[in-house]
Amino acid sequence: MFGPGIRYLARRALVLGIFVAFGITIIRQLAAVFNIAVPTWILACVSTAGVPLYTALRANLRQLHNRREAAKLGARDGLRDVFDEVGPVVNVRPLWADIVVTICPEHIKLILSTDFNNYVKGQEFQYGMSSVLGTGVFNSDGEMWKFHRSLSRPYFSRDRISHFDTFDRHADQVISLIKQRMKTGHAIDFQDLIGRFTMDSATEFLFGSCVNSLHAGIPFPHNAALPLSESGPAKGQVATAFAAAFNESMLHVANRARFGWAWPLLEMWTDKTTAPMRIVSAYIDPIIRDAVEKKKLAKSLALDTEMTDIKFEEGTTLLDELLNVTSDPKVLKDETYGFLSGKDTTQWTITVIMYFLAMYPQFLTRLREEILQHVGPTRRPTYDDIRDMKFLRAVINETMRLYPSVCSLTLKCRQCINATTWPSPDPDDERPIYIPAGVQTPYSVFMMQRRKDLWGPDAEEFDPDRWLDERLKKYLLTNSFQFLPFNAGPRICLGQQFAYNEMSFVIIRLLQSFASVSLDLGAFPPGARPPVEWATQAEGRKAVDKFHPKMHLTMYSQSGMWLKMTEAENA
Ligand code: HEM
Ligand SMILES: *[C@@H]1O[C@H](CO)[C@@H](O)[C@H](O)[C@H]1NC(C)=O
Ligand SMILES: *[C@@H]1O[C@H](CO)[C@@H](O)[C@H](O)[C@H]1NC(C)=O
Ligand SMILES: *[C@@H]1O[C@H](CO)[C@@H](O)[C@H](O)[C@H]1NC(C)=O
Ligand SMILES: *[C@@H]1O[C@H](CO)[C@@H](O)[C@H](O)[C@H]1NC(C)=O
Repeated sequence: MFGPGIRYLARRALVLGIFVAFGITIIRQLAAVFNIAVPTWILACVSTAGVPLYTALRANLRQLHNRREAAKLGARDGLRDVFDEVGPVVNVRPLWADIVVTICPEHIKLILSTDFNNYVKGQEFQYGMSSVLGTGVFNSDGEMWKFHRSLSRPYFSRDRISHFDTFDRHADQVISLIKQRMKTGHAIDFQDLIGRFTMDSATEFLFGSCVNSLHAGIPFPHNAALPLSESGPAKGQVATAFAAAFNESMLHVANRARFGWAWPLLEMWTDKTTAPMRIVSAYIDPIIRDAVEKKKLAKSLALDTEMTDIKFEEGTTLLDELLNVTSDPKVLKDETYGFLSGKDTTQWTITVIMYFLAMYPQFLTRLREEILQHVGPTRRPTYDDIRDMKFLRAVINETMRLYPSVCSLTLKCRQCINATTWPSPDPDDERPIYIPAGVQTPYSVFMMQRRKDLWGPDAEEFDPDRWLDERLKKYLLTNSFQFLPFNAGPRICLGQQFAYNEMSFVIIRLLQSFASVSLDLGAFPPGARPPVEWATQAEGRKAVDKFHPKMHLTMYSQSGMWLKMTEAENA
């Protein structure tokens, strides 16, 4: 009935009430001493103004305490080096929340792996996400997280050949859509197209029911003069509505994470995720209900007839697999919907791979050679083919190094439970860094994966060979925690192998069919190109990259990735 903001304020009303009452009493006393009459509403306003003062005071007292504790341990106060320090550990304090940002592999290793139990996603994070992701594996800590992780892990620990059938069917559709579009002479928004591929594939292996977004019509460039019959995505289609609702739900969740504890104040009267989640539920709930019913029926049939040897179809979807262990619709939904976010991460990586291949045709040529040599021009790739293709893997790794899908600091973040210290990243000051209890510790994989001291002077260059030549030993093998597109430790991405398979499969299929790829800059709407001042940078990716990267939960290119491709002769 009320929005999250009202609920938030109501919870804090008590504290506020005490504060205001206290303030009023003091001012009344003073007013009595000086014999002036002050209306109550003015008193209330003045007292309320004390709240931010109080918050600031408390934050400062906490800082004093932290400094003392740090000194006791012979450590530096990680929170003191304020804001614009350029070093690898930066402290920011938006809205008086304590945050220590790091880009050091040693610290990230502690957070994700060696000191895993001392870091949680935290309640604040979970509260903002819960109206979309419930309490699924992404959005829980402790025992709840272990429970969810154990539910889904078996599904991903097996190689499922059936996934390849799914990928193949949808890859065929992708290829024929590109061919059709190229015949019109217009570019195609590859980001959107491949998002439909990952959406259709994901809904199929998660629920066994494909949303068919590849059938829903694909957008034309902003500058294309179109016949009336061709107007892009059809409004009102289930697939279009579902994809838009999915995007919107994730966008709000990302926004909430960005505003930390203050987000409910931006959603005073309505929960912004309610409307998109209604559309999502309209699609998913019936599928889950049906699956639960079917399972029940199957069970009762087996009991009635005492045919204990009845074999039910081996679960090939995640939903089937989860039904083995639970029939709670909420658990089933939280779990499966969360997994759908794997669709965005894969979409982004495949999109940037094709972008890099368009930018650097020499690598496209080499990758095609590897594909033709291992798989040939038409055969469908197998798992073994994919495993053996070193250059393909190097291209994928190099892409995820420069443009990791998940790089939002609000997502790549943990909360420290007990106060601790981190090793100093600064050779001139070996005192460790003090990390107070309760502090948020986001880590920037994006920046870490571009550090010149970790990757060499050419860190900002796209060069897949760094994964194959002597640079591998020199840089990466010395510290595996400097490359973390999938995170690491007990919460490492469950879909890592699945994603490598999916991305490899579709790239192979595309390069079997198309011999060259190019960017069509004219098809990018003017407002969506990178800021002009980027081009004047002396070095770095900003100086060369042609799209404008943006971020919600995952990275994406504003207004798409418009490509043209030419068909291979023998495909
Ligand atoms: C290129 C593709 C992908 C990338 C870069 C990626 C990256 C990540 C990252 C960085 C995390 C950690 C997030 C965090 O700690 O908050 C994560 C978690 C996760 N990913 Fe992926 N992912 C990809 C694809 C997928 C796919 C396709 C699936 C499923 C089908 C998937 C399932 C999961 C799950 C279930 C978790 C949560 C694990 C846990 O918290 O225990 N991912 N992924
Ligand atoms: C945090 O400290 C408390 C009290 O010393 C201890 O009981 C608890 O196990 C610690 N938690 C972690 C995750 O280290
Ligand atoms: C959803 O967002 C992605 C970018 O993350 C974009 O490519 C796609 O076109 C969007 N889909 C809809 C239906 O808005
Ligand atoms: C679920 O059931 C199927 C078929 O009965 C079985 O093959 C599979 O191993 C089960 N999965 C789990 C996680 O128990
Ligand atoms: C790609 O990165 C993974 C680590 O995520 C590593 O195990 C693999 O060897 C790398 N492959 C290549 C060819 O660089």
